[in-house]
Amino acid sequence: MRDVRRDFPILSRTVHGKPLVYLDNAATSQKPTAVIDALDRYYRETNANVHRGLHTLSEAATAAYEDARRKVARFVHAARPEEIVFVRNTTEGLNLVAHGWARKFLKAGDVVLLTEMEHHSNIVPWHILRDQIGITLRFLRVNDDGTLDLSDLDAALEGVKLVSFMHASNVLGTINPVRQIADAAHAVGAKVLVDGAQGVLQMPVDVGALGCDWYAFSGHKLCAPTGIGALWGRYELLEAMDPFLGGGDMIESVRLEGSTWAEPPARFEAGTPAISEAIGLGAAVDYLCSIGMAEIQAEDATLTAYALEKLPQVPGLRLLGSAPQRGPVFAFTLAGIHPHDLSALLDEDGIAIRAGHHCAQPLGRRFGVPASARASLAFYNVPEEIDALVTALMGAREMFANVRS
Ligand SMILES: Cc1ncc(COP(=O)(O)O)c(C=O)c1O
Repeated sequence: MRDVRRDFPILSRTVHGKPLVYLDNAATSQKPTAVIDALDRYYRETNANVHRGLHTLSEAATAAYEDARRKVARFVHAARPEEIVFVRNTTEGLNLVAHGWARKFLKAGDVVLLTEMEHHSNIVPWHILRDQIGITLRFLRVNDDGTLDLSDLDAALEGVKLVSFMHASNVLGTINPVRQIADAAHAVGAKVLVDGAQGVLQMPVDVGALGCDWYAFSGHKLCAPTGIGALWGRYELLEAMDPFLGGGDMIESVRLEGSTWAEPPARFEAGTPAISEAIGLGAAVDYLCSIGMAEIQAEDATLTAYALEKLPQVPGLRLLGSAPQRGPVFAFTLAGIHPHDLSALLDEDGIAIRAGHHCAQPLGRRFGVPASARASLAFYNVPEEIDALVTALMGAREMFANVRS
């Protein structure tokens, strides 16, 4: 895995004169040369609008865009490429299900089951829908160790029409038992939407094996450009859904009296799509497959074990979450130092971490921690970077102790 670092040009830069130690991968991943080159090549050689042109460039752009869809479909083991809807990001994928499916099929009083650990992108769309059509929201609670409380899942599922939850937590690192929850949900006739924003770079994803109905993820967390993501959905569900946005490319026919929709996925891709970004996502998927998602998962496990050994050695450090199934995401507080100060201080050493509520304010409240620091690793990190983090945290502690005394 040390060799893969060479694939990421940004990893060789310095910040404040120190080698960059990039530990903010849960926010966004870095991009390998293969992806940067794919974007460059597209704009130099192929740039044109897709689907509507009959000239050489448009046909080439369309072929590359649709090829990217096939690559993404293979990457998540979709039954067919048409099950992949290109969206801007996870947030848009989740909102698409809320608008296109839930708004159509749910009515006042129907229950949507979420969890207390969700990112705001899987809470706010449901608040909006509740306020508009009167659905009821219910939340699975989080145990002290950061796992979901599934002790009374059957009771929690009573009357539920949709369960929507994250594959992996962007704060606690917890990897949720998707199959178990999906099976229980299906047993009561509920549909299952999974927020795959963090899961998709951490492990091989097989949507069939996970047993869900939709799976949403962002390209930018998967070594791809920003502005592109995907919503996978079982085709018959996509077919039943209403469009989210209306416009060009998503119609079958338009008359002054009304319009009819194209079949999925075009129905959900109104307007000129993010063409180069989708092609970049295809290149990212190719790159990740060339390493192997199982190898990436194994590397994450090694880095996670090392971080879990080292971080607790910092006096006053409190890690949030200790789930047995977890990814390389570590939110923590350091006694006496505000996470924002810590992040600014670490930046002086070239170390990039995140600080704040991580778009999970209800979870922060659950743990009595409105803000925390977060170090999140990817397969291109190395143990020495965890050492650098630990040394910098020790230094920050000492510095603040001196200021106080
Ligand atoms: C678990 C989780 N869900 C959803 C999102 C939203 O992703 P995006 O901002 O790319 O839509 C994030 C982003 O951090 C996340 O970590």
